[in-house]
Amino acid sequence: MLNPIRWTGGGLTLLDQRRLPAQTVYLKPKNVNQVADAIRTLAVRGAPAIGIAAAYGVVLGLKRLAKSSGARAAAVDQAGPFSEIVETLRSTRPTAVNLFWALERMRRRFLALPPAASLTAAVRALEAEAVEIHREDQASCAAIGRHGAELLPQKATVVTHCNAGILATGGIGTALGVIYQAADLGKTVRVFADETRPLLQGARLTAFELAHHGIDVTLMSDGMSAALFSRTPVDAVIVGADRIARNGDTANKIGTFSLAISARFHNVPFYVAAPVSTFDLSIARGHDIPIEERAEEEITRIGAGRAPRGVRAFNPAFDVTPARLITAIITDLGVIRPVTEQEITRVIGGRR
Ligand code: MRU
Repeated sequence: MLNPIRWTGGGLTLLDQRRLPAQTVYLKPKNVNQVADAIRTLAVRGAPAIGIAAAYGVVLGLKRLAKSSGARAAAVDQAGPFSEIVETLRSTRPTAVNLFWALERMRRRFLALPPAASLTAAVRALEAEAVEIHREDQASCAAIGRHGAELLPQKATVVTHCNAGILATGGIGTALGVIYQAADLGKTVRVFADETRPLLQGARLTAFELAHHGIDVTLMSDGMSAALFSRTPVDAVIVGADRIARNGDTANKIGTFSLAISARFHNVPFYVAAPVSTFDLSIARGHDIPIEERAEEEITRIGAGRAPRGVRAFNPAFDVTPARLITAIITDLGVIRPVTEQEITRVIGGRR
């Protein structure tokens, strides 16, 4: 199985997703800056995977600190350097809330250490916390898959966008987890994957991952969904999420909103699949979700060439789909339908 993040023998290995599908190259970041770089440049990407990688980044940072300050140094005296480690990781990408959620868990674990704890003890405790975050995400993906698979008919045609699969999480994925579980239940699933401009996570990662696991996948460009819906029966659109506001408005990869509008026009159910760690109940509505703006060159570069000089590019990495366009949110704790603040609170309240 493809594995985007591995923690073995106290070291981190990341599958470099920038090089897929042409090359399978692994990175072995040794310090917090290298982990931050891997997140910023999308070597590791997808909301849950970003959170997990950041948690391991904290452990690597703390290990360095233990090495330079002496293993017996008191952790409590290193609160300043610890905050810097967390800050370095926090500043990598602004939209996926799983990053901030995982870092907050790591910070709380650090602050809960007994006053006399050494840095060595702190490393051990935080390593256990990071491994637990990783393990929990694996279990969440499996639960999302189980809940979502029930929504698909025996023979299903599904559209997805970006990559919300194994490569984006610590387990079988969120949107793609639903597809893998449905296939495991003996359902026949055909997937249409948007290529996902501008960085082609759909073409490079989703098509690669689904084909690798024997799922029937057809690629289309982002603007083709309306044409598809108007001539082929489609049972569902299933996408992942980077941050879900209290009212259910959902930030996900740019292009998701257009796909949701197109699905509504054609009466195709539109599902978001996401773990509880992707909800941000401190944010009332999607309008307040910070959206990452990326470099113009991601748009103006055209293969080996480029758009005419002087042409500017609009390049938000995410958009927000209003809750009213979402048929249901498939979470690890169950299915939220209708997508309202009340129903979100009922299903996940107290867990986030
Ligand atoms: O920019 P990326 O590749 O990190 O964006 C990823 C997405 O938008 C995914 O759909 C989302 O993070 C959900 S991953 C389970």
